[in-house]
Amino acid sequence: MAENNRLGFTSSLGAILAAAGGAVGLGNIWRFPYMLGQNGGGAFLLVYVLFVLLIGIPLMMTEFVIGRRAQSNVVGAYKKLGGGKKRWMALGVFGVLAALMIYAFYSVVAGWTLNYVVLSCGGKLQGLDAAAVSGVFADFTQGSFWPLFYQFLFLALTGLVITMGVQKGIEKVAKILMPVLFILLLLMCVRSLTLSGAAKGLSFLFKPDFGKINGSVVLSALGQSFFSLSIGMGAMVTYGSYIRKEDNLVKTSVWIAVCDSLVAILAGVVIFPAVFAFGMNPSSGPELVYIVLPNVFNSMPAGTLFAVVFFLLLTIAALTSTISLLEIIVAFAVEELHWKRGTASLACTLLVFLLGISCTLSFGPMKDFTLFGRTVFDLFDLLTASYIMPIGALLMTIFLGWCFPKVEVMDELTNGGRLKGRFVNLYYFILRYLAPLALLVILVSGIVG
Ligand code: TRP
Repeated sequence: MAENNRLGFTSSLGAILAAAGGAVGLGNIWRFPYMLGQNGGGAFLLVYVLFVLLIGIPLMMTEFVIGRRAQSNVVGAYKKLGGGKKRWMALGVFGVLAALMIYAFYSVVAGWTLNYVVLSCGGKLQGLDAAAVSGVFADFTQGSFWPLFYQFLFLALTGLVITMGVQKGIEKVAKILMPVLFILLLLMCVRSLTLSGAAKGLSFLFKPDFGKINGSVVLSALGQSFFSLSIGMGAMVTYGSYIRKEDNLVKTSVWIAVCDSLVAILAGVVIFPAVFAFGMNPSSGPELVYIVLPNVFNSMPAGTLFAVVFFLLLTIAALTSTISLLEIIVAFAVEELHWKRGTASLACTLLVFLLGISCTLSFGPMKDFTLFGRTVFDLFDLLTASYIMPIGALLMTIFLGWCFPKVEVMDELTNGGRLKGRFVNLYYFILRYLAPLALLVILVSGIVG
């Protein structure tokens, strides 16, 4: 595809909403609350926000610079900017593979969410006691047909949006769904905050107990910030290539990070007051949203309605993220392999489904099939979040900070000198020194610990 024929986002708002849609996902509403619940509450939040500001925003800017400079998918971007060197292209390929793996396990949980929308709409969770609610979750996830069915449905829905393209698919869907997501989220906040006993949940979320900060809390917070902002494997390189040349990349990155963190914090405001108000356990892990919350909904007035709203919210968040995951792969197939967009969407969706089957069955028939002591689902999750994303991010900082001309980076960030670029020097320092160092520390401690 010729460079000037590439269709990108039509406005700065469109770019922010689309990329924020890619960032805001299950990571914010499902993973963030349970990680916070397991890692010391407010202390985790504090460390998390620090990482978003210090490392997350600069790395997002880095991905945008690479993508917009190259006007290309992630493999093409490293090929162009890396002067055709194989080792930099490999970094792009690494990104596409990571997207495949993340999409494969992410779509499992996305499928669960869709099932919970259906269950709560049909009132199937209503009036059950705690054991029965756990039973519903176990029966569903340990099965094979229905979890695969919902996973496939989710993949198909995502594929459809991607087939429609960047403007009519990705941007349009984000412009509709992101405002809906915020409205639903605020509605849920009001419900939760008006429960009696809400204050305890708020102090769990917002009052840091500094004694709880330790190595594993710090690492979890850093990993969470990467996953949540979709950093480290080219999602934002791909979206960056669709941002208009006149948009401000620094501002765009800050807005996306603010939206992303705000959604995570508001999800906490929805979940913890409710969990504490009904005397439930905040540190129950990945089940928090699927088992603890349905119990909470069962104990509150108009609980069924709020259950529907909540799972709808989660589905919307997941969908805008799966869109960003599939786009990484499809943009590569279209631009590098010269496939048609429709064919590429279909083929990549089927490929991910094939990979994803073993992730879904990890909870049921393939529970005992383990590699390195982990199920396929856990392995994909661990490999991507703890290794591939930090390694990808580290190599990316080395590429842009040490092997690419500074003047070009500055040129891209200031739009050819037209913007003041107040923070660009601080950014460059973080790019060259602070971010690689921090990434090295996470990687080493992840491997050693
Ligand atoms: N950030 C998304 C979330 O919080 C997940 C996600 C979407 C992602 N695209 C990604 C993570 C690319 C890493 C890379 O749910």
